[in-house]
Amino acid sequence: MSKLSEDFLWGGAVAANQVEGGWNQRGKGVSVADVMTSATHGVERRITQGIEENVYYPTHEASDFYSRFKEDIKLFHEMGFKCFRTSIAWTRIFPNGDETEPNEEGLAFYDDLFDTCLAYGIQPVVTISHFEMPYHLVTEYGGWRNRKLIDFYLTYCETVYTRYRTKVKYWMTFNEINMIARKPWKPGGIQWAEGENKLQTMYQAAHYMLVASARAVKLGKEINPEFVIGGMFLHPTSYAATCDPNDVLAHVKKLQQAYLFLDVHVRGKYPRSYYTFLEQHQLEIQTAAEDEQMLSEGTVDYIGFSYYSSSVVMANPSDQNKSEGNEISGYKNPLLPASEWGWQIDPVGLRITLNWLYDKYQIPLFIVENGLGAVDTVDADDSVHDPYRIDYLRQHVEEMKKAILEDGVEVMGYTPWGCIDLVSAGTGEMKKRYGLIYVDKDNDGNGTLRRLRKDSFYWYKECIASHGETL
Ligand code: BG6
Repeated sequence: MSKLSEDFLWGGAVAANQVEGGWNQRGKGVSVADVMTSATHGVERRITQGIEENVYYPTHEASDFYSRFKEDIKLFHEMGFKCFRTSIAWTRIFPNGDETEPNEEGLAFYDDLFDTCLAYGIQPVVTISHFEMPYHLVTEYGGWRNRKLIDFYLTYCETVYTRYRTKVKYWMTFNEINMIARKPWKPGGIQWAEGENKLQTMYQAAHYMLVASARAVKLGKEINPEFVIGGMFLHPTSYAATCDPNDVLAHVKKLQQAYLFLDVHVRGKYPRSYYTFLEQHQLEIQTAAEDEQMLSEGTVDYIGFSYYSSSVVMANPSDQNKSEGNEISGYKNPLLPASEWGWQIDPVGLRITLNWLYDKYQIPLFIVENGLGAVDTVDADDSVHDPYRIDYLRQHVEEMKKAILEDGVEVMGYTPWGCIDLVSAGTGEMKKRYGLIYVDKDNDGNGTLRRLRKDSFYWYKECIASHGETL
């Protein structure tokens, strides 16, 4: 038997800020994504102080999903999507983040979006916060380094849970929550002050976000006990570079550092290694008396995670063998090929990841991001041949199937990233395309925005129709 069950959630994933555009439409406020420029010639994306004139901001129009979502969801339906993962732009609902009353026009937009999905039998899977918090919360409160953010976030959660109570069943609290302890601008609105103790700030913010997430899970269940609420984790799949026990230990430590987020999400408390880490680095995390209980009461129903590539870990690394990757990268693996952006391609790593996670936590897993960022070209007849993307997806789906059917891992669904071309979070580029649907737009913002079905569109359609049998 090589089919997956009928209720397996095949779909695709995006984030509001990377696909919607309409950055200042109908009362929307400025988000942390809206003040990021594009990376040019290897220079990282710049964060401007507010919106500057004559600067190109790639998310301001993005793929114009804001005006074209009906047409796009129709295409998702044509592929047979059972679910669609997107986020709600916090700034459409609370433009500044600290208001007490929501912006009705923003709420109405997502009513329309979710109704359209449901009319096509597509379940929305909603990330509440995906790298797009209100910029005002940065300038006024310092982002997630401030405990007040917990209350603002919960007001936002309560508003969207209540409004979409009957429309959305699947939720995730924060996208890639463990990113806060590595690169805290996008997830936490944190920019460094002169001389700031970075580790201290990141782990403080992480604590506030973990408390906020737990409280959000509890709140969601009170509003609708039928909600299925997960966390979302960037899985830093990696291997020890050699069988030297010191390399193996370095690898164990790397995973431990990341897994503390899942330990809290799933088990409701920090592992002991977290406390020794704090001690070793002389970090003092401010907590409130009720936090421990809050963490224990808000455990997640499932683990959503992103998986693109893997890397290796060594006890004595050198800069020369550094690899590129999804924010938490490591070192090069000589046995693996890499994408045009240097992300190492490792389908078996997905099977390994699924086994690791399920052995450790034994709750359902949801692959909510996976895919290949690549340059595509459009032929004269408007076709887009992307065999490299089909190969990547096919190999990953094959390994996922083995994990489910041969290893007994419980997987709820699979939503390839950027199912429609969108702005890259890492570089701000359009040409780093993940989509099954092509969007005619280039890195400088030129293009008609028309949509084209890539070859991978037809491949995925077959895959879904056959419940994963025809690959
Ligand atoms: C994940 C994010 O880190 O990776 C997405 O959740 C992001 O927002 C994706 O787009 C791919 O990364 P990039 O840099 O290629 O856009």
